[in-house]
Amino acid sequence: MKIRFPFVLALVTLVLAGCGQKDSAPAVGGTAAAPAPASGPRVVEITAGVGDQMKYSLNTIEAKAGEQITVTLTNAGTLPKEVMGHNWVLLKAGSDAAGFSAAAAVAKDTDYIPPALKDQVIASIGTLGPRKSGEVTFTAPAAGEYPFLCSFPAHYAVGMKGTLIVK
Ligand code: CO
Repeated sequence: MKIRFPFVLALVTLVLAGCGQKDSAPAVGGTAAAPAPASGPRVVEITAGVGDQMKYSLNTIEAKAGEQITVTLTNAGTLPKEVMGHNWVLLKAGSDAAGFSAAAAVAKDTDYIPPALKDQVIASIGTLGPRKSGEVTFTAPAAGEYPFLCSFPAHYAVGMKGTLIVK
């Protein structure tokens, strides 16, 4: 609830503006970089497994605190899910992504999200087989750096990881 407040405020501002309040409230229009609710969340597209390689198409996502973001993940590979699945897991700032990966490797029953560490997860897209896509929408948290990774066994170690940088 608390995180969504700026978004709600922006909506209210938009409604007020639409009711012809522009002239009586000029200061509102001066707010910089207000999100555009009408267009919905910003979509960030990530492709994994091009050429059946253990890679994401991007390793850095930049965002503004409070921004709504939809991450889409597409597994462009051809190998079976059991041997080359890909997921996307965003962790809280300061999380030990390597430790998360190690624990996830033996958490197949919970789709590679280790139950003991699930409170570190901000948002995730479940493991995808070849030619499958998934998505998740979340609110960008406070300014900081948030690690993300593919928690399928061994993929973090070869570089399926990145950082969400919130400013
Ligand atoms: Co992967």
